[in-house]
Amino acid sequence: MVRIEEDQENIPGYAARLYDKLARDAIDTYYTPIAKEIAEVLSYGKLLDVGTGPGYLPIELVKLKPDLEIYAVDLTPELIEIARENVKIARVNINFEVGSAYHLRFEDDSFDMVISTGVIHDLANPVKALDEWYRVLKPGREAWVYDPTLIVPRKKIRFWYERLDGEELVLFKEYAKRIPPIIYTTEELKKILNKTKFKEYEIKEYEMGGERELKIKLKKVPLQKV
Ligand SMILES: C[S@@+](CC[C@H](N)C(=O)[O-])C[C@H]1O[C@@H](n2cnc3c(N)ncnc32)[C@H](O)[C@@H]1O
Repeated sequence: MVRIEEDQENIPGYAARLYDKLARDAIDTYYTPIAKEIAEVLSYGKLLDVGTGPGYLPIELVKLKPDLEIYAVDLTPELIEIARENVKIARVNINFEVGSAYHLRFEDDSFDMVISTGVIHDLANPVKALDEWYRVLKPGREAWVYDPTLIVPRKKIRFWYERLDGEELVLFKEYAKRIPPIIYTTEELKKILNKTKFKEYEIKEYEMGGERELKIKLKKVPLQKV
């Protein structure tokens, strides 16, 4: 199995605009339903989105909950640039910045929630990343991690091909070569999660935007005093 190295950009700069275009098509079917789920449990406080890409999930979320203070990081500078353009168009406020899932600049115990969509399968060292997200979460708070159970099913690739032409199609085919053929089953994920500092978690497989997704809720259990 091929996994990208730690801190190596998953989405190469040249494919950032393309990813943005494809992600935009999924706002209503994917990002908005997830934003609604999160909005049901969090109305204010600090939230961090790790590997935010073009930023559509936090943008949809802050539209629903304008009192949230949202930070969103991604390793790909071109995507952060696009996310900043997207947030301007949406006329909302989010702090987008280039940053690594493994080395966050934030203080311990500082976030009310950490979220991440479609990132965990890409990480060379998911245990290290999850421990870093644990560090920045306040005790008693949760990280919600969404990940596809099937990376780019054939049906979806055909759907994308039909929406692209000319140079975009050439770029997409180049980008598609880099998409790692990796999926986690629930059992594989459990093995990973058991190595992290999160001692309470729940994994659910469900349908989102016409695809199977894994939704993982991880709780930072406050340490017992002895
Ligand atoms: C499939 S995209 C998902 C983007 C976004 N969360 C979404 O749902 O549209 C994976 C994202 O993870 C980012 N990424 C990969 N490795 C990373 C790392 N070590 N730290 C931060 N971001 C990373 C990539 O740049 C890319 O934007």
